[in-house]
Amino acid sequence: MHSFSLLLAGAFAVQPILALPGSVTHVSDISKRSVDTFLASESPIALANLLCNIGSAGACASGAGSGLVMASPSKTSPDYFYTWTRDSALTFKCIVDTFINSYSATLQVEIENYIIAQAKLQTVSNPSGSFSDGSGLGEPKFNADGTAFTGSWGRPQRDGPALRATALIAYSRWLIANGYTSTASSLVWPVIQNDLSYVTQYWSQTGYDLWEEVGGGYSFFTVAAQHRALVEGAALATQLGKTCSNCLTQAPQVLCLLQNFWNSGGYVVSNTNSGRTGKDANSILGSIHTFDPSAACDASTFQPCSDRALANHKSVVDSFRSIYTINSGIAAGVAVAVGRYAEDSYYGGNPWYLNTLAAAELLYDALIQWNNIGSITITSVSLAFWKDLYSSAAVGTYASSTSTYTTLYNAVKTYADGFVTNAATYTPSAGNLSEQYSRSTGAPLSAADLTWSYAALLTVAARRAGVVPASWGESGGNSVPSTCSTSTVSGTYSTASVSTFPANQTPVTGVVTTTASGSTGTATTTTGTSSATSTASSCTLATSVAVTFDEIVTTTYGQTIKIVGSDSILGSWNTGSGTSLSASGYTSSNHLWAGTISFPAGEVIQYKYINVASDGTVTWEADPNHTYTVPATCATAVTVSNTWQ
Ligand code: NOJ
Ligand code: NOJ
Repeated sequence: MHSFSLLLAGAFAVQPILALPGSVTHVSDISKRSVDTFLASESPIALANLLCNIGSAGACASGAGSGLVMASPSKTSPDYFYTWTRDSALTFKCIVDTFINSYSATLQVEIENYIIAQAKLQTVSNPSGSFSDGSGLGEPKFNADGTAFTGSWGRPQRDGPALRATALIAYSRWLIANGYTSTASSLVWPVIQNDLSYVTQYWSQTGYDLWEEVGGGYSFFTVAAQHRALVEGAALATQLGKTCSNCLTQAPQVLCLLQNFWNSGGYVVSNTNSGRTGKDANSILGSIHTFDPSAACDASTFQPCSDRALANHKSVVDSFRSIYTINSGIAAGVAVAVGRYAEDSYYGGNPWYLNTLAAAELLYDALIQWNNIGSITITSVSLAFWKDLYSSAAVGTYASSTSTYTTLYNAVKTYADGFVTNAATYTPSAGNLSEQYSRSTGAPLSAADLTWSYAALLTVAARRAGVVPASWGESGGNSVPSTCSTSTVSGTYSTASVSTFPANQTPVTGVVTTTASGSTGTATTTTGTSSATSTASSCTLATSVAVTFDEIVTTTYGQTIKIVGSDSILGSWNTGSGTSLSASGYTSSNHLWAGTISFPAGEVIQYKYINVASDGTVTWEADPNHTYTVPATCATAVTVSNTWQ
């Protein structure tokens, strides 16, 4: 027992650590306030209008089947009263993430209806093919009642199954975390498995891009979505005691293919076979829909904070500066309206709300990553992006304690807010978001009340508020094999018959099991206000969670173990601002140091333990940093166990 540390334990007990993470914002208060105000008023409108487009309850979707998302209520010029697999999956990923962040029985019913509808839709024969060999899963859209659409169309589109798997995997993780593993296993997994089979079997075949125009090619967005789905699909399989060995063999090969889209000129060529420059919001959407809050700034997966994603952001955004009247006179480094690609002529080729908002979202994602990592690195690849925002930017790594970091961070925040302001400027006062807004006047155009536009508004608002989706395991799936091959495997497809979900699958009020990643993180258990039962009644979602860090480490008299990390609560990586743990539980057979710190629910933290000698000498744990996502459930206390590394 270290008597010295008992004093620390006492000091710790009276030191509540409840500060919120520091946000360094020096943006003009007026523009910041206007973005705050816009998002505060627009978010509930977006959620209501989005739900309005989903059958059968949605008033704007009359005639649509249960769980089927109409792309828009518009039935003429253009007729978007169909259900697209892509739009629906992106919409439901947004709904599931919203639900995970804040339990809602209404949203849960929508999610369950979606899953039931998708299980059926998978089996519907259509012009892309049938269910038995999986080919029918590549069909992009179906009639409002769930029957096959047989008109001519740009098909197949191979992003749909991957995006749907991602949405369903997110819900499965919530089910597991809340004790409903058998629901995930028996009802959701069979649907996911068909989609994963499709991806493993067809990823190396060409198809149409997400804009439904370029056929016979590969498309960045599609390949990025496929890679992500296979990585997280394999992980979910393991969690459920299933296997997806084909996911494991194919994912690295899909990542290989993804590398081919990078052009050494500093941007992503979004499609093969397009005859265009390739600068396309396709690539920005690819980065935001594969954002992993626990990832490093990896270029191989085009993470939002990677040099490639930033260089590409500049190339794509700049491609719209001179072609739209509403962008004229706006300087480099200041946000503009963003369309699909410069050569676009659909409805005259205009900015799209979802693309302007995606340009903002990529930057908010990057801010979250830099904040977690504790530094910003500028490379020769990203330098031009940075110079637009800060003319003296130079190649280097800037720790979060430096003033350069603060300057760069704030400049990106201001730039990101500008894209939201641009969309806000051209949003009618009632808050309706169509698909496009005129390149010359900013007036809304094309499909009214586009469901995807509303989903884009909700995700950008969440990221700006620091609310992140769960990690998909990017750090375990980002290494590009040295030899690439496009040989595939054949999948297996079986009807997933799901007609109802068990009642009362509400969040647990008690035990939650989570895992801290990092080299030595282990599973944890928690204490809650009451014990968990599979029919727990609804409970209050915790906003703050007391996280107890247990660290097994051998120390000698006079040494103190502290925890230090990315968040300001954890001292922003400053060793002098770390939190001392207590050795009150340290015995000769159990070298335990422990301490409890409160964090906002859902926060992703990175940390390490340090050993501070009595003369102040600091010894750090070895890399990598530990990463931990504070659970956003009803549990108000959790324990994370680590061993000195
Ligand atoms: C309809 C598609 O949905 C849209 O993306 C495309 O631009 C037009 N057809 C024109 O091909
Ligand atoms: C046309 C867009 O290009 C496509 O991406 C979308 O899926 C459909 N409209 C439906 O919104």
